[in-house]
Amino acid sequence: MIEFKNVSKWYGSFQVLTDCTTNVSKGEVVVICGPSGSGKSTLIKTANALEPFQKGEIFIDGVSVGAPDTNLPKLRSRIGMVFQHFELFPHLSVMRNLSLAQIKVLGRSEAEANERGRALLERVGLKAHIDKYPGQLSGGQQQRVAIARALAMDPMAMLFDEPTSALDPEMVNEVLDVMVDLAKEGMTMMVVTHEMGFARSVADRVIFMDQGQIIEDCTKDEFFGNPDARSDRAKHFLSKILHH
Ligand SMILES: Nc1ncnc2c1ncn2[C@@H]1O[C@H](COP(=O)(O)OP(=O)(O)O)[C@@H](O)[C@H]1O
Ligand SMILES: [Mg+2]
Repeated sequence: MIEFKNVSKWYGSFQVLTDCTTNVSKGEVVVICGPSGSGKSTLIKTANALEPFQKGEIFIDGVSVGAPDTNLPKLRSRIGMVFQHFELFPHLSVMRNLSLAQIKVLGRSEAEANERGRALLERVGLKAHIDKYPGQLSGGQQQRVAIARALAMDPMAMLFDEPTSALDPEMVNEVLDVMVDLAKEGMTMMVVTHEMGFARSVADRVIFMDQGQIIEDCTKDEFFGNPDARSDRAKHFLSKILHH
């Protein structure tokens, strides 16, 4: 479903991704972890064509992201992206946040878009907040709206970039619960996160990045169950995050 082939990217002379190769199959959940600055955000942004890359190829459901004739807005509309800082439209109601792109990009009628929006808000437990504005919601609620908004586009895959790291601790689980449900329903997901409990419970694979490279790409069981086989960098990273 998502295929990275020897992807390299530079910001000027600084190489941010080096020869990254991995595949995410339909229905697979892949967690990406690694130190700050290792290129995790950049990697998933290249998949959504939010960041160009200079070498290699990326295919989404067989469509080449880098090919000049690829319809990028169309491709982007099929991949849901959830960021650390929600990025809801502050001046639009929750309902409108969910319906706008459905109407403008997918050409749905207002009634259809509202119907789909309502169903998704119910699913993330926020039906009562439909007429509120983002600023009237907690961080955890805003992030659940952001997930519902992405799902309203009927994405073929969802990309998450540290979706819980800007949240107060008591709100982390309400967002993770929604993500766990999605994973169990078979959504294809790439999730940048340091929530190793989430990784242990629903990830199929774990990717560990350092300095722009994919250092580890293995099954969850291999990653957590066979620490001796991990690279020193992964071990060092895990020892730091698992001790807290
Ligand atoms: N727009 C940019 N211009 C130049 N350097 C950038 C830009 N965005 C990110 N970087 C650098 O690229 C590296 C990887 O960043 P990023 O993908 O955000 O890492 P991560 O998500 O793992 O913390 C970092 O060293 C960061 O400073
Ligand atoms: Mg990042």
